[in-house]
Amino acid sequence: MMARVTEDQAEPAALPPRPPYALRGRLLTPIAAGGTHHEPDGVVVVDDAGLIAHVGGWAAWDAAGRPGRASGAVHDVRPWLILPGLVDLHAHLPQIPNSGLGSGLHLLDWLERYIFPLERSFDAATASVVAPAAFAAMARAGTTTAVLYGAAWPDSLEAAFAVAERHGIRAVIGKVMMDRFTYRDLPPERRLDTELRESAELCERWHGRDGGRLMYAFSPRFAVSCTAELLRESADLARSTGAYWQTHLSEDRNELAEVARLFPDARDYLDVYDRAGALGPRTILAHAIHLSDREIARLAETGSRIAHCPESNLFLASGAMRLARYRAAGLIVGLGSDVAAGPSLSIFSVMRAGAYTHDLIRVTSEPGGAGGMPSFGPLDWLRLGTLDGARALGIDDRIGSLEPGKEADLIVIDHALTAPLPGLEVSSPEQLVSRLVFRSHPAMVRGAWVRGRLLPADPPEGGPVGP
Ligand code: GUN
Ligand code: ZN
Repeated sequence: MMARVTEDQAEPAALPPRPPYALRGRLLTPIAAGGTHHEPDGVVVVDDAGLIAHVGGWAAWDAAGRPGRASGAVHDVRPWLILPGLVDLHAHLPQIPNSGLGSGLHLLDWLERYIFPLERSFDAATASVVAPAAFAAMARAGTTTAVLYGAAWPDSLEAAFAVAERHGIRAVIGKVMMDRFTYRDLPPERRLDTELRESAELCERWHGRDGGRLMYAFSPRFAVSCTAELLRESADLARSTGAYWQTHLSEDRNELAEVARLFPDARDYLDVYDRAGALGPRTILAHAIHLSDREIARLAETGSRIAHCPESNLFLASGAMRLARYRAAGLIVGLGSDVAAGPSLSIFSVMRAGAYTHDLIRVTSEPGGAGGMPSFGPLDWLRLGTLDGARALGIDDRIGSLEPGKEADLIVIDHALTAPLPGLEVSSPEQLVSRLVFRSHPAMVRGAWVRGRLLPADPPEGGPVGP
């Protein structure tokens, strides 16, 4: 984590812990208006409020008298790459310990064998140990915004939020809600009220904390675990509080059959959530793989957001989401690791799984091969993992790209670690990101900042290095 400090050497020779400062390095970011901004020798200036005051080429900034610099030192991280922080739109905090276990099981079996026992034992004490290590691992993976499900126990959520508050990561977190197909021992008649009350209390305490860095998501697990009442009342709570509402949608064929059995009046899976009044721009639906044209059109009509989790979908052999089709329909889609159904917290790893999945769909779905369907290149994946994730959360006016006025959520990457042999580095934006996606190195992210503040990223003593 060492970098040079140029000019006024007031700061120690390390990455800047807090604003104000300027970072000099190779700079690459999607732009809200479209396209990508690349500066081989660039600078990002972060003011003392943690906002981006200036982004551009080093030489021009220097010649113009270094506008927006305030009193911060210039930290020279060349030849490292400066990118916007990554957005993980969907992961499960209590599941991290079982990452990489149970590949290929059907979802419902995997939940019962690998996940419910783990979440059941995820009490406040466990959360206090797992959450700091998890947030540090996310920082090492380059994730600066994480949308998380917790376990069912409210005090474990309290602990997770408190750790996130101290750590500095930007997070949307929610207590998983279940009033059937659950690991809670509550008698059925007490489940609904308990779930709603506990979630509402957590939302009241944490939604909007620290100027909106921490937010709440009402998080009914999925239709198999929830009654129509719980879905409807949690959606009402999300609307009245301005919090998010998140759940899983159409991930696995057996799950679909179970939903059809439990909700015989619904015309399809999406209709279960639609009847609950749960669709809309503050709703994040994970997976959304096996959808009819009607469901896709309804998602677009309501402005609901999709968390695309291709690595998880390969791991559990759930299926392949048709990203090109969804984008053509106008859906807003970001990327999710879905740890622990996804084996890795790294959004670069998710991009790789998405790229392989989408190219396979392209070459197998049309008689003539890949013709006709758009291909997604490395810069598209970078946008999906940054600015599109921010759009999905409705906060792309604040984060997701390196543009003046936005909060300084950014990462620096030692891309030399992705070269196949020493000295074989590339320099075009596409090729740089291609190497990050297809040849990710577990130690390549050297620093991650939220609002200009460096996130703790040290692995626990003797712990794993990679995300
Ligand atoms: N559907 C309901 N719960 C879960 C979960 O924890 N992980 C995944 N991947 N799918 C789910
Ligand atoms: Zn999930």
